[in-house]
Amino acid sequence: MDLPPVGLGTMGIEDEAVVKTALDCGYRHLDTAQIYDNEGVVGAGIAVADTDRANLTVATKLWTDALGASAVRPETEDSLDRLGLDAVDLLYVHRPRGDYDPDTTLPAVEAVREAGLTEYVGLSNFDPDQLAVARDHLDAIAAHQAEFHPLYWRESLLADAQERGYPLVAYSPLAGGRVFEEQTIVDIAEAHEATPAAVSIAWVTSYDNVVTIPKASSQAHLEANLAAADLQLSDAEIQRIEAIEYEEELFPE
Ligand SMILES: NC(=O)c1ccc[n+]([C@@H]2O[C@H](COP(=O)([O-])OP(=O)(O)OC[C@H]3O[C@@H](n4cnc5c(N)ncnc54)[C@H](OP(=O)(O)O)[C@@H]3O)[C@@H](O)[C@H]2O)c1
Repeated sequence: MDLPPVGLGTMGIEDEAVVKTALDCGYRHLDTAQIYDNEGVVGAGIAVADTDRANLTVATKLWTDALGASAVRPETEDSLDRLGLDAVDLLYVHRPRGDYDPDTTLPAVEAVREAGLTEYVGLSNFDPDQLAVARDHLDAIAAHQAEFHPLYWRESLLADAQERGYPLVAYSPLAGGRVFEEQTIVDIAEAHEATPAAVSIAWVTSYDNVVTIPKASSQAHLEANLAAADLQLSDAEIQRIEAIEYEEELFPE
């Protein structure tokens, strides 16, 4: 599937005005999830914005207690009710745990897609082996969403997305703000007269097949993040960021 370089992560957004502002600024990919408890907020923002629904990608995620074979369809319908939509564009399995069983969960998710409740099926927080197993049960893995920022990213997940040609949706591209303290990022930002946020987003989106979904609340942050994908980093700068020592992932299993 085709996703814009920068979409909006909505975890923690509790005001529909932020969603409307994002859409007015030009965001065309909104990422929510059952566990964020804000599908209603996202739906309300979509409803009051002027954006044509056909030009918008709306993604939500089934939480780990919604992955039983008989739960997938009613849980998806509940998400659609909260969003006020007939269908989403992308429905993810949020994490491969809890009630997740590839043999039962994935056929149920495929059935939901065939029934027209989502156009595409995505996975999130899978490792390469789990992706391989899932591939046997799905028509297609349309996107994989994983933690990906200068302080934590996994080359194996990037390679899988690039080799097989699906978007890797990089979540927490600013490491929730922790990249602002990373000296390498600060130095590169100064060289470009840019912000550390812009450098992180530019780095994440410099890779083929990678798009990202920073969360932002203010119009200034929303606009800056959308523009950040246009910042061109040199190969040497990209390699300096790749060489930053890994920290712990923010969202371990
Ligand atoms: N699939 C998963 O398991 C999973 C897990 C975690 C996150 N996600 C997705 O990824 C999205 C983003 O991740 P995240 O929310 O963890 O963190 P993030 O996008 O890395 O960072 C968000 C933080 O950075 C600030 N910020 C945003 N733009 C900024 C800018 N230009 N300058 C300075 N500060 C800026 C935000 O502040 P303000 O709000 O004040 O602008 C917020 O505090 C989530 O919303 C969610 O959609 C998915």
